[in-house]
Amino acid sequence: MTPFPRLATERLLLRAFVPADASTVERLAGAWQVAETTLTIPHPYPPGAAAAWIETHATGWDSGKRLTLAICVAEPPQELVGAIGLTLAGEHAHAELGYWIAAAMWGRGYATEAARAVVAFGFATLGLHRIHARHFVRNAASGRVMQKIGMRLEGVHRDAYRRWGRFEDAAVYAILAPEWEQMRPNGDHQEQVT
Ligand SMILES: CC(C)(COP(=O)(O)OP(=O)(O)OC[C@H]1O[C@@H](n2cnc3c(N)ncnc32)[C@H](O)[C@@H]1OP(=O)(O)O)[C@@H](O)C(=O)NCCC(=O)NCCS
Repeated sequence: MTPFPRLATERLLLRAFVPADASTVERLAGAWQVAETTLTIPHPYPPGAAAAWIETHATGWDSGKRLTLAICVAEPPQELVGAIGLTLAGEHAHAELGYWIAAAMWGRGYATEAARAVVAFGFATLGLHRIHARHFVRNAASGRVMQKIGMRLEGVHRDAYRRWGRFEDAAVYAILAPEWEQMRPNGDHQEQVT
């Protein structure tokens, strides 16, 4: 069994979720502002759903299908502020990036910092060739995160999803391994810690 990665950035620690995180996940991800622009987070967040979600992470990683990490502030008490993940397609050497940050923590650059680290891990350690991400067009903050980490807009899928009873246009962004190599300032964006 390959251990879960633990990634350290300047201000953040990205680590595996543990069962004790479940109530925090339900509170943070269950907030309407967070769930509203995602494709899958339920609202209201059903009691027990976060524990069940966390239980899937080990199998997801062991089967090579998904990496899900808790985003924590590096400084003690290492507060949990979000989640980030890659949905992996090994046969294509590609992955989809997804993330959310607790509403009280928006605008501090946390999503960008975590996304940079996970993208670096995907290319440098997992050997991916492409990482893509999608956001509802009205969710400009998420699009900005994708731009800041070097992804390029590939197009807009019109009315691609029906969420909360309404159709949503989805913007598709991606970065390829050679593009990421070119934009690396001076080595990896993150350091793997044990
Ligand atoms: C999208 C989300 C992850 C961003 O997290 P964050 O930690 O605030 O992101 P960052 O601080 O790293 O960057 C946000 C950028 O968006 C910009 N931004 C914020 N609101 C914006 C808006 N309404 N229009 C345009 N840009 C906006 C910020 O100014 C910042 O860009 P800058 O650094 O150039 O100033 C967060 O809002 C969130 O969790 N939303 C709910 C869940 C979600 O939508 N997840 C993504 C699904 S695709």
